[in-house]
Amino acid sequence: MSSIISVKGLCKTYIIKEYSNNVLQNVEFELEEGEFVSIMGPSGSGKSTLLYTVSGMDKMTAGTVIFGGKDLSAMSGRELTELRLLEMGFIFQQMYMMKKLCVMDNIILPAYQAGHNRAEVNAKAEALMRRLGIIDIAERDINEVSGGQLQRACLCRALINDPKVIFADEPTGALNSSAAEDVMNELCTANRNGTSILMVTHSPKVAARSDRVIYLVDGNIRGELVLGRLGDGEETASRERRLNSWLMDRGW
Ligand SMILES: Nc1ncnc2c1ncn2[C@@H]1O[C@H](COP(=O)(O)OP(=O)(O)OP(=O)(O)O)[C@@H](O)[C@H]1O
Ligand SMILES: [Mg+2]
Repeated sequence: MSSIISVKGLCKTYIIKEYSNNVLQNVEFELEEGEFVSIMGPSGSGKSTLLYTVSGMDKMTAGTVIFGGKDLSAMSGRELTELRLLEMGFIFQQMYMMKKLCVMDNIILPAYQAGHNRAEVNAKAEALMRRLGIIDIAERDINEVSGGQLQRACLCRALINDPKVIFADEPTGALNSSAAEDVMNELCTANRNGTSILMVTHSPKVAARSDRVIYLVDGNIRGELVLGRLGDGEETASRERRLNSWLMDRGW
């Protein structure tokens, strides 16, 4: 296997007034092509910051991130924007939806920007919205939908350009269990079709579907659990128990 993302010596320091906060300290890991990795850890441990820096949304203080063979820190702002548009999908807590557009238009915008065939894009967006149960609100203004609907719209948008990697920050955070199940099924389908996933979650049930779990504490990787590939139709209960006891050992 080869890595789609390779992270070496990643540090991120926030400076507020004279106080500096070393939020990520020498973080190193690989995301293999086609792999699904979860990041877990206490609140404030640096999980969201890790997703932001690894995806080039935010600048790192030190270290290197190689994405598909390209060194992010050597890329211009314009190159990064294009890389994000064509090769990355995002489901973040702050979701950067366009306020003046409806749900459907927000979802198709990245595909139009990438110059894809509009009829195909529209059909694909509709199919995604249908599978995620938000087709009824397609024409709704983005300000007039619930947090959970917005989260699912965000997943549709993340998938519209068939990205190489999806970065997801608590993609089921605002959802009831059946909507969470829909979101996870969609993410797992994308993963089976070759999309790599780096996902932050507080839910062992959700993380139990990934191949590997990385545990972050105070900006350091404190361990990883290899769960292996989830088989077709395999129940997650025993994986979840394994993960829960592993997390308990780490004081989670
Ligand atoms: N823009 C920022 N400026 C200054 N400090 C920040 C900023 N963003 C995050 N931090 C700080 O960095 C640390 C890590 O934050 P981060 O959001 O990465 O945590 P997290 O693990 O995602 O937590 P949660 O599980 O609550 O989402 C926290 O101490 C936070 O206060
Ligand atoms: Mg967070």
